[in-house]
Amino acid sequence: MLHPHYSINDLGHLAVGGVDTVTLAEKYGTPLMVLDENAVRTRCRLYQSAMEKYFGAGSTIHYASKALSCKAIYRILKEEGIGVDLVSPGELYTAKAAGFDLTEASFHGNNKTDREIASAIADGIGEFMVDSFEELEAIDRIAGEMGVMQRIMLRLTPNIDAHTQKAILTGQLDSKFGTPIATGQAERLVRLALTKKNLILEGFHSHIGSQIFEYEPYIEQAKVMFEFMADMKAKTGYEAKKINLGGGFAVRYTNDQPTVDIVGNIEKIATEVDRICVSYGLRRPAILMEPGRSIVAVAGVTLYTVGTVKEIEGVRTYVSVDGGMTDNPRYALYQSRYEVLLANRAAEKKDLICTVAGRCCESGDLIGEGMALQAPVRGDILAVLVTGAYNYSMASNYNRVPRPAMVFVKDGEDRLVIRRETCEDLCRNDL
Ligand code: LLP
Repeated sequence: MLHPHYSINDLGHLAVGGVDTVTLAEKYGTPLMVLDENAVRTRCRLYQSAMEKYFGAGSTIHYASKALSCKAIYRILKEEGIGVDLVSPGELYTAKAAGFDLTEASFHGNNKTDREIASAIADGIGEFMVDSFEELEAIDRIAGEMGVMQRIMLRLTPNIDAHTQKAILTGQLDSKFGTPIATGQAERLVRLALTKKNLILEGFHSHIGSQIFEYEPYIEQAKVMFEFMADMKAKTGYEAKKINLGGGFAVRYTNDQPTVDIVGNIEKIATEVDRICVSYGLRRPAILMEPGRSIVAVAGVTLYTVGTVKEIEGVRTYVSVDGGMTDNPRYALYQSRYEVLLANRAAEKKDLICTVAGRCCESGDLIGEGMALQAPVRGDILAVLVTGAYNYSMASNYNRVPRPAMVFVKDGEDRLVIRRETCEDLCRNDL
């Protein structure tokens, strides 16, 4: 199987974290999102111990909540002693409602409103990732009005090509995120930040993109960021206490993809960071990273019930399921690839190449094309693997489809963590 926490049990059913997924589908209905808690915790610990080991005490990760935001995940992160990156009032609210200490959180985004800034300051947010000149002014002004000294970091664009999808590339010069180093604007932003009476500048941040298999782009990024840090030290005397290298480590979605070695990558980046710091005569700052996908993606599986199986003779076979782009828009958006199988006949040979289609009135509502699958019949349970990241968090109510339920499994036990949306829920705000 693609990952060790997926297995086939004695009944020939797909099990996740030791729990029979067919039983889960019967108990909770479909579509159903299933997340293996131990797989999440293992990745938190892998990151955390590698960050401390190779970058030293004080270096840590902030989980990028956009990958999956719900109370249950924040509670796990809290137990694991990991901070979070939040990007919206909704994510802030959810983290707070889960009892998460917001002093361990950073607030991201390219367009934070004055009201969001004030509310995050009132909640004691750890630090703002300042995206622009305008935002720097706004945070300083609002912090001043509230009588708070606010910690900030500056989000910079290092102009790195991370060989990933254009839609999820963020570190290049022409980006809606951050302030570019190459144009000299980042230097001006640092100089301005240092004059602000209500702000404490902690350091610099950059994020080069997502689903990145190679470690080399991170080395390039580190070079640019530390060169900038050295340049600022020489020109202004300011030495950053923290450098945040963002997230982006890839995960294995399909059998033909490699597994990214999280610890090995961190070790390689750390070796290079040490070398660069020595060459520039810098004290090594605390290093932060912001993984999202690589914490939760592989932990997740989506279960659907197969409905219509339609063969267009000489063309292809459509296998329709009871969800689709409303719970997983990633094929529609990025042509993302997944592995699928029939959870109730998992041990059988995959003898059909098909297109798995969602239920929406939209031709592009597909889970994937050219997918190998056991030839299904109506009522079979179809599992899509590696759906823990950017599935539930990107879900929508298109066609007035209610969002699925989510179940966490751990050590053979299951528990409901997000109840299934009802049609009444959908009408909640209708007047
Ligand atoms: N930090 C920042 C500033 C980010 O913008 C992101 C992701 C991350 C960290 C986490 O990156 P990760 O470790 O998850 O790759 N919806 C797309 C992915 C968008 C990523 C947006 N930013 C997808 O489904 O592939």
